[in-house]
Amino acid sequence: MSVIDLRSDTVTRPSPAMRRAIADAEVGDDVLDGDPTVRQLEQRVAELVGMEDALFFPSGTQANQTGVSLCAERGTELVIEANAHLVHYELAGVAMIAGVQIRPVVTPDGVLTAELARGALRGTSPRLPRSGAIAVENTHNAAGGKVMRPEVMAAIAALARESGLRLHLDGARLWNAAAALTTAPATLTRGATTVMVSLSKGLGCPVGSCLAFARELRPRAWEMRKRLGGGMRQSGILAAAGLYALEHNLPRIAEDHANARRLADLLADSPTVRPSAPETNIVMLDLLREADTADRVIPRLAERGVLVVPFAARRLRAVTHLDVSRADVERAAGVIREVLR
Ligand SMILES: Cc1ncc(COP(=O)(O)O)c(C=O)c1O
Repeated sequence: MSVIDLRSDTVTRPSPAMRRAIADAEVGDDVLDGDPTVRQLEQRVAELVGMEDALFFPSGTQANQTGVSLCAERGTELVIEANAHLVHYELAGVAMIAGVQIRPVVTPDGVLTAELARGALRGTSPRLPRSGAIAVENTHNAAGGKVMRPEVMAAIAALARESGLRLHLDGARLWNAAAALTTAPATLTRGATTVMVSLSKGLGCPVGSCLAFARELRPRAWEMRKRLGGGMRQSGILAAAGLYALEHNLPRIAEDHANARRLADLLADSPTVRPSAPETNIVMLDLLREADTADRVIPRLAERGVLVVPFAARRLRAVTHLDVSRADVERAAGVIREVLR
């Protein structure tokens, strides 16, 4: 029985062709005097997201932490949606590394709007913390891959500008947002100071994210990455996978969205599970019966070869990606129905 791994889009593996690109990569010492393949990837990513420059990082977390550090002064507040990755899954890094306090904004659907963000900005007072920066996430993971539309981003960028604040975009899945809106990723980054994009989610790369910014920020981004231990040597080996992914795997990610919709459609009339209406590649599955807790259901799905992760006591998350086909999601839907019969 083959396993259908819907736990995350980070489980994708490099294909034989990507492995060949890795093996053939031209490399140098990136910390000493540069690696040509890394530089090529950085320039390609900068171009795709419409920024002047970019820096290659080992992880999205390290690039996010660097982005926030570049955007907010220590001892200030980061205005951010309450369920953002930076709030829950980066081990309080913004407090420890960037030295900022989270100012969480609760939203109905994971989308931070300018109106909600404005309400969280502090007035000038000697007794209150100062607002330091705004951060947004597109797509929003915990909200089920929810897309932030360009007009919402534009309004937040305008608010940041008029408030004299910098804006960080956690675009781990910005590619998915762009594909869902059939627009270029660059239309979703306007007004951001720093933009993080991942190569290791859904695209088959083993490792890697980039942080994009205006040219003048490169020295500070470099310094921060080095301090965090992210200076890598012959990292062209990894960047080659990124270049391969952008050319060959990025153009197909709308298929993952269609597969997520297919999964949701096949479960739509189930009396025991309610799927979310996926905008991108993430489907949240709410278990409707009291007895069906995530802890009990997940092992039973795994026994039948379908892997998902818990997202709440009675909520599962299923993510489609490069290594999951339409036939796989159809089989997964059948298994889910059977287990929850
Ligand atoms: C929205 C979001 N931001 C940042 C990250 C962090 O990326 P990494 O796992 O490469 O550190 C993730 C990882 O899943 C994510 O989903």
